[in-house]
Formats: sequence, structure tokens, C-alpha cells
Amino acid sequence: MAEKFYITTPIYYPSDRLHIGHSYTTVAADALARYHRRLGHDTWFLTGTDEHGQKIERRAQEAGKEPQQFVDEIVASIKDLWKALHISYDDFIRTTEPRHEKAVQAIFTRLYEQGDIYKSEYEGWYCTPCETFWVESKLKEGKYCPDCGRPVERMREESYKFRLSKYADRLLKHIEEHPDFIQPESRRNEMIAFIRQGLEDLSVSRTAVRWGIPVPFDPAHTIYVWIDALSNYVTALGYGSQDDSLYRRYWPADLHLVGKEIVRFHTIIWPIILLALGEPLPKQVFGHGWLLFGTAGEKMSKSKGNVVDPLVLIDRYGVDAVRYYLLREVPFGADGTYTEDALVLRTNVDLANDLGNLLNRTVAMIDRFAGGKVPDPAGGDDGVLREAVAEALAGMRENMDRLLISDALASLWKVVGRANKYIDEQAPWNLARDPGKQDRLGAVLYSLAETLRVLAVALTPFLVETPEKIWDQLGLDPSGVRTEPWDEATRWGGLRPGTAVRRGDPLFPRIEAERAEAPGDGEPAGTAEVPEGVALIDYADFQKLDLRVARVLSAEPVPKTDKLLRLELDVGGEPRQIVSGIAEHYRPEELVGRLIVIVANLRPRKLRGVESHGMLLAASTENGELSLVTLDRPLPSGSRVR
Ligand code: MSP
Repeated sequence: MAEKFYITTPIYYPSDRLHIGHSYTTVAADALARYHRRLGHDTWFLTGTDEHGQKIERRAQEAGKEPQQFVDEIVASIKDLWKALHISYDDFIRTTEPRHEKAVQAIFTRLYEQGDIYKSEYEGWYCTPCETFWVESKLKEGKYCPDCGRPVERMREESYKFRLSKYADRLLKHIEEHPDFIQPESRRNEMIAFIRQGLEDLSVSRTAVRWGIPVPFDPAHTIYVWIDALSNYVTALGYGSQDDSLYRRYWPADLHLVGKEIVRFHTIIWPIILLALGEPLPKQVFGHGWLLFGTAGEKMSKSKGNVVDPLVLIDRYGVDAVRYYLLREVPFGADGTYTEDALVLRTNVDLANDLGNLLNRTVAMIDRFAGGKVPDPAGGDDGVLREAVAEALAGMRENMDRLLISDALASLWKVVGRANKYIDEQAPWNLARDPGKQDRLGAVLYSLAETLRVLAVALTPFLVETPEKIWDQLGLDPSGVRTEPWDEATRWGGLRPGTAVRRGDPLFPRIEAERAEAPGDGEPAGTAEVPEGVALIDYADFQKLDLRVARVLSAEPVPKTDKLLRLELDVGGEPRQIVSGIAEHYRPEELVGRLIVIVANLRPRKLRGVESHGMLLAASTENGELSLVTLDRPLPSGSRVR
């Protein structure tokens, strides 16, 4: 029997359109679900919407709509967003569905009948945005919610209560005996401290709220929205219904992935409901950090007006750039800051430059030096990339099993970096010229292509389009990248020599960052000394120069001259050829892999019959010394120099 993996996201309030912070939870859960599925585990991934309660009731009212119509519209937009992000959920539960409502009523009735729920009265405070009851002593000064900081409301209502107090000791024991139950550690400690302070019985019904599931035996009450919502994790599996086969197959959940502000509900109220029902507890609740917005470090929220629409980002940068950014940027568990600049940087550096160029260079070299067919390694494999790939896979697995998604990606990018370096070290363009080194050339090109083949498989949990594109360019059937059994697909040597590669578009076109205010727009200084014979120019004149960082892909002497080298460059994913008079100063192999600076908008011209598109910058002295302008720190090729 395959191992099973049941993973859930919180169910989302359909009160507003979702922002990039919400997408963070769901994309992370999706990557984990895809990872387990890819390993062949019997995986179930649940998400959905939390549609009842006072908050939604009010939002519908403000919008002048019936609650049902109001939520229907937003739920449709949420589903569209998940589609755009390729969220691979197996089920989407809405708490307004009859399958859920019936099961929640059954749970409530059962708890009432066994005496764990009793009729009482609630007098205290309520935070509507968090849907949370607060006793006065816990409030922030000035009557604000200790969780979200917004104003709370005074409440006095007849209310059913749930005996949390009765189960506090059992819960504490469970948490202490199961160190993995609440993670990360910091949240676990917080919860232990919270429970040790003592748990009060919880109000679990409202009379003032009509938009909720009625208490079946007392319809003047609706069931408290958190009892309703938390139950989704089992009602979606058919718990308590005619057909509970999914429940028997998948419960207990292996992972409830939640934002840190709702860990308390998931590790106190939810397990106590389950303890009272005599059902097993989830194996783990993991509370991740928030994606904060901008420099102020604020949590993204509609009321703060700092929301970022993920659909706009997907449209602008592509789904894999957005997914990669979310999964890579924030170490799981910690808070992270969202900025669009960081997204652009990640895309340009990790995706366009590192991964994109690796594929581009590999396929181009197979085209040029091996007639477009993956060569036979012919026993010349030095094992360098084979070992790097094995290490990266092991690192990725280990990190994913600990939910360290960003670290898992970092493990994979190690091999991307290693392979790019390997190209520079091995300089296949030199091997190609040496008839005695053809076996070696074949082995080098083979291991690069094979590295990319395996890497694409390992990327399938994270990226939804790129792995297919990589396989396609390698001449493989793209559908196999997700379907070939993991062990086979990641075993070194799977790529058949003779496979015809298909050169395609760059994986990730470079994104041009918008130019900030040009420096030097201010007053002319007037006092600067100007060397004789050099005319002063305006900033506008300087701006006419398009100076760019370029990476040297290959270099070779231009026949019949001693002075000229023909360089093939990569400028932000664009290939470019430049002829330069530096042959007396640099050997071709010294240049390969270097980051240099070129004038990119020079009119093309021919030197000794070879076209040159631009010119590189070098410093020289009167007595003939010459030094190339290179970068002091690596930046993506294509970056502007100014
Ligand atoms: N409806 C409740 C959950 C009920 S689960 C039984 C809820 N919904 S929510 O729509 O407000 O939030 C859904 C998830 O999105 C939560 O895990 C929350 O932490 C997450 N995020 C919302 N904003 C976020 C960020 N800015 N950053 C990261 N995650 C954030 O809570």
C-alpha cells in the first residue's frame, strides 16, 4: 500500500478578493501535495471557502446583496485564481454546501447529547474580522482585538457553550507527547503556555447572527462560525455521512497548513472537538509566517489598502515566476516581505539567467557541436554532475519532508549553479575543435542534458509549465516529466543518446525593471575640473548609450587576423555576436563565462566579413596594456550599466 498524505489549507473567507498573501498558503500546500503525489503517495489535497458568520453577513449587507449571492460571486473569483495558479486541489469544500451543513449539525447534536455542549449565556467582547470571542482582560487597551488590533464589540447573548476546560489536560498531554503536532517549535511553545493558563468554555452559538448553520434542536441559534469552519476537514471526507470511505482512507490529516494567526483555533478548539468525538487528531498543524507588504512590514490586508492582486502578477510575469517567488523568497515559518522588485530579481536571476541560460546553452551546444542530437557519453563521464544531481535530489527530499520548501529549491539551484560552472570549466567549444576530444565533448554535453532532464522532474512540485518546456527542448515527451515514476525518472542515465533536441524560446524572458528617476537631473555642478580635450556632455547624451552586462558564451579567433576575436554573448537571454580587437590580450578560453560590459546600441558593422553587433568596453594605456571592464559582483546578464 502506498503511503497516504492528506493535506489541507485553511478555508478562505469569501469576503473580498484574495491577495498575494492568501496565495502564499495555497501555493505552498500545492507544492507539498504535488511533491507527495509525484512520489507516488496516495495524496488528497483539500481547500475551500468559509462562508458563514457575522463578517460575511455584514459584507453582503454593505454590498447590498443576499449573502448567498454575495459569496457565490467571490467563490467563483477564488476558484479562478486557483486555476490561474494551477492549484491541484482534489476537493473544494464550501461551508454552504448541504454535505457540510448536515454533517456539522450532526457533530453539534452529538456533542450536545453527550453533555459537552450546554446552554448558557455569553457576556463579553467579539472581534468580527477574526470571528473571535474575547474576555475583557485579554483585550488591548482601548478595547481592541489582541490578534488583529481592530475594535471589538460588546456582546451579551444566550449562547451554547463547549466544555474546552474538560479536555484541556488531555490536549496538553497530547501536545507534549507529540512534538510534531504543532510546528514550528515557537508556535508549539506559545500554545503550551496558552493552555497552561487554563481554558475557559467556549461560546459555540450566536443568536444575533442569522447567516450560519442553525442549531438543529434550537433554530434561534446559529452555530459559531469557527466550529462550522474547522469541521470542514472531516465533512469534506464524508465524515458522519452515508459514504465515509474517504474519511476512512485519509483521516487523520497529515498536515493542516495554516497562517500563524489561526494556529490557536487549529491546535485547541479543533483537537478538542475531535477528542470529544473520539476521533484521532491530525498529525501536524504547521503555522507559517506572513507575507508582509513593503517596507512598513505590514500584513497585507484590504483594510490597509496594501493588497497585491496575484492575477495581475501572473499576467505580467507568468505563473511559474509567481509560484517560484512565493515558494523561494520566504523561509517557511518565518515572515517575509513582498516587493515586486524582489519578484523581478528572482525571476531574472534564478529563472531567466541561471536556469534559462543553462538550458539555452546546453541545447545550443548540442545543436552546434553534436548535430542536434544528444551525444553518447561513451564512458567519458567524469561523474561531476551525476554526483551534484544526486546531492541536490537528496537535499530537496530532506527539506521537503521537513516542509522547508525554500531550502528545497535552494538545494536544486545548487546543481543549476554547478552545471553552469561546469560549462565554463569544460569549455565544450574548445573540445569541439580538438578531434582527439570528441568522446570527452560527448560526455560533457550528455551530462548537461541529463542534469536538465532530472532537474525538470525535481521541479514538478513547484513549477507548472517550466518542467514540460525543459523536456520539450530536450526532445522528450513533455507529459512524461510528471508521470514517469519518480525513481525511474530521476535515475541518472535515462536520456537516450541520439535524442534530437528542439531549440525553443528562452524559458523566462528577462523582465526590464522600470527605470527609476535618472540620477544627475539636478543642477550642473560647475566646479568639476574637465580634462583638456574632452568635451562636456549632457546627461541626456550619456543616456543615449545602451550599456549592458553580457555573459561570454564562447570566443574564437577570426580567421586570418591576429587581432580579432569573435564572441558569442548572452545579453539577458538574447544571443549576440561581437567582434573585438582583443585577441592579443586575451585567450578565447579566458573569456568564456565572464561578465563584461558592452555598448548594445552601436550600429552593426562588419569586421573582416564577420558581423559585429556592438562593442565591448576595455581600458587601455598608452603602452598597449588592456583590461576588460568586468563586474565586481555577479549581476544578471542584460542588466543596464549607467
Ligand atoms: N476562514 C479562516 C480560516 C478557517 S480554517 C478552518 C481564515 N480565512 S482567511 O481567508 O482570512 O485566511 C486564509 C489563510 O490565508 C490563512 O492561513 C491566513 O493566515 C492566510 N493569509 C492571509 N493573509 C496572509 C498574508 N499576508 N501572508 C500569509 N498568509 C496570509 O482565516
